Amino acid sequence: MGHVLRSSGYETSDVEIVRAEDCTLYTADGRAFVDFEAGVWAAALGHNHPRIRSTVEAQLDRISHIGYRVTNPLQEEAAAELLRAAGLPDGRCLFLSSGSEAVEFAVRIARLATGRPLLLTLEESYLAAYGSAGEKRSEDWVLFDRTLCANCPPNLECTLDCPHLEAIPFDRLGAFVFEPGSSGGLIRFPQEKLIRTLLEGVRAHGGLVVANEITTGVGRTGSWFGHQHYGLKPDIVAIGKGLGNGYPVSAIALREAIIDAIEGPDFHYAQSHQNDPLACAIALEVLRVVREERLVERSADVGARFRAGLEELRAKYETVRDVRGRGLMLAIEFESDRDAFVLRDLFYKLLDRGFLVGFKPAARLLRFLPPLTISEEQITGLLGTLAELLHEAAR
Ligand SMILES: Cc1ncc(COP(=O)(O)O)c(C=O)c1O
Repeated sequence: MGHVLRSSGYETSDVEIVRAEDCTLYTADGRAFVDFEAGVWAAALGHNHPRIRSTVEAQLDRISHIGYRVTNPLQEEAAAELLRAAGLPDGRCLFLSSGSEAVEFAVRIARLATGRPLLLTLEESYLAAYGSAGEKRSEDWVLFDRTLCANCPPNLECTLDCPHLEAIPFDRLGAFVFEPGSSGGLIRFPQEKLIRTLLEGVRAHGGLVVANEITTGVGRTGSWFGHQHYGLKPDIVAIGKGLGNGYPVSAIALREAIIDAIEGPDFHYAQSHQNDPLACAIALEVLRVVREERLVERSADVGARFRAGLEELRAKYETVRDVRGRGLMLAIEFESDRDAFVLRDLFYKLLDRGFLVGFKPAARLLRFLPPLTISEEQITGLLGTLAELLHEAAR
């Protein structure tokens, strides 16, 4: 121990996990933890899913990696399956390695296709760990603070001549890069009418719409993709996390209309693991399992019941200020600064009782993004334990 650089910025506990099955993680001495974070929100089908395991084993026996000058049939199969799910059946798809890479690639394509380097996103959105999307520097990005609209009356129309939106240079924007839920793990969902208006402004001047579906994709929010809750059709979709069920594969799906702009001889992107057969085999099987096991629908149904259980806690314990989420992307926010201490305590007590949940002390937040296969029993177990701990804390 001691040689590993842990750079995530998250506090690491002393729990050492050596194996996992579905939603449960195990230590060498048999302690079990229900994983309400699905790793880093990626193990959508549950850890060690039998179909993914056999897909990996079978593919390792064939081939895992090839170069640029040859092809493999799985590339086409996986691309077609993903494009179908993304609602872009005539588009084009590229498999990459991480969510950050997919978003960075999408941003690059948007700039290239429009010839406009300036992009719009919400100030709070999390787009990537590095690069232009990671840095969001003011010379490249217009960052809109959606909290400006927080007190807007619900019946007031959202229009482009609103003073809050007037400063956005729509005619110079290459794209609106939209994260349809989460915001750095805070489980926030931007207001629908604001998003529609921003979209209208961007589209009216020939800008593109990029959906960052790294967290919200593959059923997480109770629809295949988070942007579907907003009824919009993006030009580029970036997909990651759940697509590999823990294996590092991501993808971008491009609408047909922008393919010409990037297939010319001047555009190159030669990362060593793009469209790797092993990654394609895994992504293809994940998408099939999600479809065949109706996990998108399950995410919506089970998520609604899970949320109702959290709402009951809110009704009972005044320290719970807010419950929010969609599908199996849920959070509870606690009341005051005083509770920040209690919250850390709560996280470790939950861990001690066998529940690993998301924990964001600065935002006074507990977060739940379990595998889409989470059982009702595991949810009931968590809710019951949480109720006991809140009851104890209230005394
Ligand atoms: C919305 C969003 N975009 C992009 C990323 C970056 O993905 P990755 O960590 O796989 O590079 C994340 C990761 O949490 C994310 O939540």
